[in-house]
Amino acid sequence: MAGKDTGSTESNRVLIFDTTLRDGEQSPGASMTLDEKLQIAELLDDMGVDVIEAGFPIASNGDFESVREVTRVVKNAVVCGLARAGAKDIERAAEALRGAKRGRIHTFLSTSPVHMKHKLQMEPEQVLEAVVSSVTHARNLVDNVEWSPEDATRTDHDFLCRCVEAAIKAGATTINIPDTVGYSVPAEYGALIAMLRERVPNIDGAVISTHCHNDLGLAVANSLAGVANGARQVECTVNGIGERAGNAALEEIVMALKVRQDAMPYETGIDTTVIARASRLVAAVTAFPVQYNKAIVGQNAFAHESGIHQDGMLKNNQTYEIMTPESVGITKSSLVMGKHSGRHAFREKLRELGYELGQNAMEDAFTRFKDLADKKKLVFDDDIVALVDDEVARGSEKIRFVSLRVIAGSTGPQEATLELDVEGARKSVTATGSGPVDATFNAIKELVPHDASLLLYQVHAVTEGTDAQAEVSVRLDEAGRTATGRGADTDTLVASARAYVSALNKLLVKRQRHAPGAERAVSAASE
Ligand code: KIV
Ligand code: ZN
Repeated sequence: MAGKDTGSTESNRVLIFDTTLRDGEQSPGASMTLDEKLQIAELLDDMGVDVIEAGFPIASNGDFESVREVTRVVKNAVVCGLARAGAKDIERAAEALRGAKRGRIHTFLSTSPVHMKHKLQMEPEQVLEAVVSSVTHARNLVDNVEWSPEDATRTDHDFLCRCVEAAIKAGATTINIPDTVGYSVPAEYGALIAMLRERVPNIDGAVISTHCHNDLGLAVANSLAGVANGARQVECTVNGIGERAGNAALEEIVMALKVRQDAMPYETGIDTTVIARASRLVAAVTAFPVQYNKAIVGQNAFAHESGIHQDGMLKNNQTYEIMTPESVGITKSSLVMGKHSGRHAFREKLRELGYELGQNAMEDAFTRFKDLADKKKLVFDDDIVALVDDEVARGSEKIRFVSLRVIAGSTGPQEATLELDVEGARKSVTATGSGPVDATFNAIKELVPHDASLLLYQVHAVTEGTDAQAEVSVRLDEAGRTATGRGADTDTLVASARAYVSALNKLLVKRQRHAPGAERAVSAASE
């Protein structure tokens, strides 16, 4: 895929390289299960993303497995695995990518003085040698190799040019220019790309890529400046998640290019109507809420509150809207069905919302929909999405929620009587706590003893009104392994119990997968 047909500077096609599953997952607390990664990868593929960076195979057995499994579900996108410059990293990445129709190794090495001196403790000439040997090794294993000079924006220009030239000569087909610490500003970042095009004699042999972090809130602006100066691949993440302040947000890059074709005459292959769904999925899986006023996907991004704006919108929506909500996949949350709706209508609604469920999952979701319609007068699309996401997340869990009865109120002690199905056996207990949530979680701990501590407890109302479903996220930590679970119900405490149980199930899977000795070999790509 490298070369002039896709990603060449003469073409106006910009490749979208999504790193939600790699750089995004490096955000503290954003760890995802294999199933969640596969769900996201499939959606990114449907969306038309060109490259999916699926993980860092040497980092852990879990990362290795995720990259390998992503290669199985992805139909069109190139699947990419990250590797440091060492031979073992590169070989592990190649092994994980073996089943890929189109696989890419992305190898990187720091080139800035501060990184070379303090992090690598290597002299520049040693770094240059390692660039050549790592890219050569990767290229002997796959024909699609990306090379990144980590901390490129704080690298001496002469040295950067030498490294880039050497990497291309050794076989790199994409050269990525990371603003690792989010330090650059648009004019400077654009000039850096222009400088490389001007000074590196073989630069046309590779696609130039941007990779901008958002520490100064400039990741998207910097990436677009890179494109204006000849970059033809943009690395980004859904909702902009990533290390520290995150990466350039995919939805902002794609919509800026689409809406401002007049100023930026470039195209992507993205089906923008999938954006809202991808944003919801990533927010739900990571339990990272999207800020209300976030561009493109924030809850208020298309809301018009003031009278003057509403009046203008009623006359002509172009008065205050530069793109339609529908263009990013936001449809008006419509009243769906009531308790008399049948299976057929429910299945059709799921299809419209983008879900294809197997027979069992469909039956379980339908039963829960009927229960919900009994409790809640109006059932909206968002209710169905919360309910189905909750059901899908449950999959083949070993511990299942059965029932909960809570005594709450101002005269304690608060008490929870909980029933769980633990690997096929019904168990129940009554526990107390300081508050009904504490009592509920204590009851779970009594039925399934564990040492995990609670890192996050978050409640969010799916729709408006006091009969709205609560969507609860719970993040647990056990010996450095974290897992996030979700639960939805009109009863906040039931949703809390479901979310806790879901997180606990994920921790059990992680416990099994990470046998002793199979722990993370390195903590993060940039260490
Ligand atoms: O930010 C960074 O420098 C990275 C590299 C691994 C490309 O994520
Ligand atoms: Zn990064």
